[in-house]
Amino acid sequence: MSEELFKNVISHAKEYGFVFQSSEVYDGLAAVYDYGQNGVELKKNLREYWWKSMVQLHENIVGVDAAIFMHPKVWKASGHVDGFNDPMIDNKDSKKRYRADVLIEEYQEKYRVKNQKEITKAKKRFGDAFDEAQFVATNPNIKRNNAKIEEIDARLKEGLESGELHKIKELIEELGIACPVSGSKNWTEVRQFNLMYSTQMSATDGESQIYLRPETAQGIFVNYLNVQKTGRMRLPFGIAQTGKAFRNEIVARQFIMRMKEFEQMEMQFFVQPGEEMKWYAYWKEHRLKWHKNLGIDDSKYRYHDHVKLAHYANAAVDIEYEFPFGFKEVEGIHSRTDFDLKQHEEYTGKKLRYFDNERNESYVPYVVETSIGLDRMFLVLLTNSLQEEDLGDGKSRTVLRLPAALAPNQCAILPVVKKDGLSEVAREIYNKLRIDFNCFYEEKDAIGKRYRRQDAIGTPICITVDHQTKEDNTVTIRFRDSMEQKRVAIDELEGIISKEVSMKALLKGLL
Ligand code: GAP
Repeated sequence: MSEELFKNVISHAKEYGFVFQSSEVYDGLAAVYDYGQNGVELKKNLREYWWKSMVQLHENIVGVDAAIFMHPKVWKASGHVDGFNDPMIDNKDSKKRYRADVLIEEYQEKYRVKNQKEITKAKKRFGDAFDEAQFVATNPNIKRNNAKIEEIDARLKEGLESGELHKIKELIEELGIACPVSGSKNWTEVRQFNLMYSTQMSATDGESQIYLRPETAQGIFVNYLNVQKTGRMRLPFGIAQTGKAFRNEIVARQFIMRMKEFEQMEMQFFVQPGEEMKWYAYWKEHRLKWHKNLGIDDSKYRYHDHVKLAHYANAAVDIEYEFPFGFKEVEGIHSRTDFDLKQHEEYTGKKLRYFDNERNESYVPYVVETSIGLDRMFLVLLTNSLQEEDLGDGKSRTVLRLPAALAPNQCAILPVVKKDGLSEVAREIYNKLRIDFNCFYEEKDAIGKRYRRQDAIGTPICITVDHQTKEDNTVTIRFRDSMEQKRVAIDELEGIISKEVSMKALLKGLL
């Protein structure tokens, strides 16, 4: 894994129509991105995989689509107006701004990398007899590194929770953390920045400031009672939503990893008070299974328990993926208690209760939330799938090994040549298949070149029409991953493609 690979991912995303810089002709808008012709399809399929796995496969989860604009008091009640801040620090020499907690976490990561190296070395030395758990518990270097990580965790947590930000600056200075750009340790004080964007909405009672939602979750909370009553929902039940969220990320970098406008896929699971930790454990496991079901290697994922709990949570864990720049959060599972609903009760003066027939009492439900960034997951897929494959004899190919069910095009139809009526036959096949599948049709350039282009955008199947097709109604079908080619009858195509790109098969892996 290297910086080089990540640079390749970014340039590949642009070259093949997945992601473009927003307003590029005007030299771009920092940390805002547009999805191109292939990106929009991949993103749509990923969203669909999430939606079907959450809503269709759980009989007690339903969806909503709330507006981005909400009553401004929502954000006062939720705590975002007062508490949705990041601790920032500037380097006086490079004039670069950083999140102070992220600088510290990146410093800790060095100890984790050292531990991993010790483990890899020992694995090699001891072979099959290696007991990793025992080694981690007893190796003096690993124990020392872990103690250091824990000590830093404790001090970071204390600084963040007490609001005494000078303690975080002291920690940065003590650890000798330098600016990655200037290399200097000449830091400003640590300050808090609110991340919400605001705008004006004319109201009958004058201009009023409203916010662009920084999370989709509040649209679910304020609709809790509407859905519960109209859907006759009984606890435990969930409400799912996908949609845009906006954050004024001061330090926006790493491509679509941290954007100012992004899309979330969130689900709030309402449970009886006292049952939240049981459901927290369930969703923690179930969500990781969803990630691994995409064929991504186990070693690429890990859990990371939060040191600093958000103002609404009593337990929180991140599902992290190992990007070329280290393990980073892709999804959060949060036990949000009854914080949000109680706050909305207080600010509206209305009851947001659940009447429990069995207990014969009403109460505010507790909530376990799963929250994943669609763009960040898109980046996981691109990073994980992009491969430069050596084909021997000095040849290589770039292939995007996306899960077949999520690929932008499910198949490409390619007549070997335009003439001799082959285009007409190929178009006939295209017209038949495109009712069921997202098909791509292309007749220009040598066939090898066209295969490479389809490999690079992740098309699982290429169908080649040649002169033999006209004689016996067969075509050559080529599989992206194995590059295996076989001759099949045109009538068999629908069945073969359905099997190869099946969302149904993907979803079955979750049952
Ligand atoms: N409702 C809870 C919530 O919003 P979060 O951890 O702040 O929790 C959830 O965000 C997920 O949204 C993250 O795990 C990440 O995948 C995505 N996300 C957050 N900020 C983002 C940003 N600036 N750009 C892209 N994705 C982001």
